[in-house]
Amino acid sequence: MNIIREPRLMQRESDGLRAAGKRIALVPTMGALHAGHEALIREAAARADAVVVSVFVNPAQFGPAEDLSRYPRDLERDTAVAAAAGASHVFAPGVQAMYPVGYQTYVTVGDVALPLEGAARPGHFRGVATVVAKLLNITRPHVSVFGQKDAQQVVVLRRMVADLDFGVEFVVVPTVREEDGLALSSRNAYLSPAERAQAPVLYRALRHAGDLVRGGERRGAALADAVAGEIARGSTAAVEYVAVTDAATLEPLATLAGGRRVLVSIAARFGSTRLIDNILLDV
Ligand code: PAF
Repeated sequence: MNIIREPRLMQRESDGLRAAGKRIALVPTMGALHAGHEALIREAAARADAVVVSVFVNPAQFGPAEDLSRYPRDLERDTAVAAAAGASHVFAPGVQAMYPVGYQTYVTVGDVALPLEGAARPGHFRGVATVVAKLLNITRPHVSVFGQKDAQQVVVLRRMVADLDFGVEFVVVPTVREEDGLALSSRNAYLSPAERAQAPVLYRALRHAGDLVRGGERRGAALADAVAGEIARGSTAAVEYVAVTDAATLEPLATLAGGRRVLVSIAARFGSTRLIDNILLDV
């Protein structure tokens, strides 16, 4: 395993790999790797000769009241997990290497970054887009791999990659879930046993939305209410939003038209832990 900490060294390594005719995949992560990340790395390994897993807890995407300082960090463990899943390189820069004194350039994506997580976490997608743009420029991959778990992040970054002509293939891997349906997330570790027992309600509620659509429900608001009702019945979670939107534009849908791909997404707090989940439905 090749562990690289300096952007210039990573660029040199990628240039060498490209010159040797190797195909490079990037899997951007903030570490705390779990089976969801392993699925991304395995997908990347199936598509490329060299798989770079970036491990960087990006301060630019955390709000002042968010969990930046308590976010789990264990590079040795992450390196072992990445290697076992098929990574050839770990790129783990320090904050100073990514945002040196005097840094002042940020990427702002338009409308798709505004609702949902964009509204709940002001500045979040500016930070995500900026760091992913930098990671793409540093690692120079042919393909980059992301998880559907962060559905809006996928939409925002796909937009950025197209708009800024990154010329990188954009691959999305389905959400990996625990047996009881809870989507894997580094933040699940913050749940108390009681909260953990309730958290699978999110996926149950999303599956309920799927059942309703298959049963003919086409009213966006009725669908959102049904999902919120299911969460309220099965937990004490505080729902922040349930949104029924077009999957590509994230525009809210009053009516689900045939032939449309719909994204139902949820954010809810279990105690102090904020979880998100989503489901894609073809109408
Ligand atoms: O999904 C994440 O872990 C992060 O948002 C990402 C894409 C690695 C950027 O920091």
